Amino acid sequence: MRLASILPPVRVLTWCTAALPLAAHAEDVGKIYQNNCASCHGDDLGGGSAPSMLDDAWTLGGTDEEIARTIRLGSLDNGMPAWEGALSEAEVRALVVFIRERRNAAAQADATHTASGGPARTVAGHTYRVEDVVSGVETPWSMAFLPDGRMLITEKPGRLRVLENGRLSAPVSGTPAVLDASQGGLMEVALHPAFKDNGWIYLAYSGRAPKGGERDGMTTLVRGRLRDGRWVDEEKIYVAPEGTFRTAGHHWGCRIAFDGQGYLFFTIGDRGAQDQAQQLDRPNGKVHRIHDDGRVPADNPFVGTAGALPTIWSFGHRNPQGLDFNPADGSLWSTEHGPRGGDELNLVQRGKNYGWPVITYGINYNGTPITERTSAPGMEQPVLHWTPSIAVCGIDFYEGAAFPQWEGALLVTALAGQDLRLLRFEGGKVVAQHSLLRGAGRVRDVGCGPDGAIYAALNGPDKIVRLVPVP
Ligand code: HEC
Repeated sequence: MRLASILPPVRVLTWCTAALPLAAHAEDVGKIYQNNCASCHGDDLGGGSAPSMLDDAWTLGGTDEEIARTIRLGSLDNGMPAWEGALSEAEVRALVVFIRERRNAAAQADATHTASGGPARTVAGHTYRVEDVVSGVETPWSMAFLPDGRMLITEKPGRLRVLENGRLSAPVSGTPAVLDASQGGLMEVALHPAFKDNGWIYLAYSGRAPKGGERDGMTTLVRGRLRDGRWVDEEKIYVAPEGTFRTAGHHWGCRIAFDGQGYLFFTIGDRGAQDQAQQLDRPNGKVHRIHDDGRVPADNPFVGTAGALPTIWSFGHRNPQGLDFNPADGSLWSTEHGPRGGDELNLVQRGKNYGWPVITYGINYNGTPITERTSAPGMEQPVLHWTPSIAVCGIDFYEGAAFPQWEGALLVTALAGQDLRLLRFEGGKVVAQHSLLRGAGRVRDVGCGPDGAIYAALNGPDKIVRLVPVP
């Protein structure tokens, strides 16, 4: 089947539309807290006639589940009212997110920062220093290392640059025009696994609809080669079906990962239409799988499903902006921006539904609840979720020689959380999470350089830094 085959815009295969309708009077969680809780627990949650919720002394249990249960059932003998009936389950979930956010803000207020040129730090068995690699890049989004030691960097407004011996090239000419609006622009750059032989470089970006309005956009993929500072031999690799482009400026996904067997996986966010993440006739809210030249693999999970887009590999994603294969076992992992709360780390598997927006650990940005449901039959649970959100973006399994203790750990970037995290696994579960770049800026992408150093792309301040080992 060819990509150009256009499917009728029928609404098929909509999973679980039974998401609970929210009351029309859905209220901001800050107000819910002020009106119901602040009189006893204090305006800032720091305690009053009732205990503080900012410290680690939980007498009634400090997991999400336990906090929700305390709110629901109270502790009547000790003066904590029961809110079951007075507050909906979704509001109780929103309060749990709110309590987590406030605890996090209080903890950050006295956290130490990690800056370039600062003193060396020791974390998880290694001492490292942070160095500036290059500044003067505008909103760097993605990095790729060429075998000759040069580095490719995308800048979101639409430029591809080459970094050579610490010097940044002029923008490569001839790269595709992008919709540089809101979160969109030129995003991912990735090399073909056989780049040395074939020279293919892949770009993912916010592309305009071939036919349609000025602002109609969808995640688009091309490949091309670099010759004398020019982008040449361009081929279209993925263009979404006509009629599925959207004017929203956000949630493009836009990460690419190759499995080394000729398949290319890439992500598209929900493009601001959350319910479409559950619809198999829509490309948004999905992880897709294609051949490296754009053809659709005959064994994709929904190839035989009437009305479904054949490129879909998994669905029910909100905005996956991290994607990488674990070199140890070939499994595919993604990080996904949640709404307010509920950022996810997912093990991406063939044909599976990751639940957005039917289930989520997050709430709406305006503080109103989305749903009380954090799990449902037939929907995958994240391996890990971050509540409050740290705004997870690019990821990379560490494979370099410079930090042997970190071999196989997952590096996870955080924009709002201004951090680079190191996640260690045991038996498929995350057993430790270390902070490597706290407070250095919004971290957008991470990669391991040929020298084994860990490179991170920062947005605000816009620059590339690297973590180098200190003996
Ligand atoms: C009338 C006063 C009062 C109000 C109002 C109140 N609480 Fe409490 N709350 C308490 C008291 C007292 C305790 C301690 C109970 C105990 O130790 O058994 C408590 C305990 C808790 C705990 C457990 C703390 C721990 O250490 O395990 C949580 C969570 C909590 N409240 C959340 C809330 C939320 C959320 C609201 C608003 C929806 C709220 N409370 C409203 C008095 C209040």
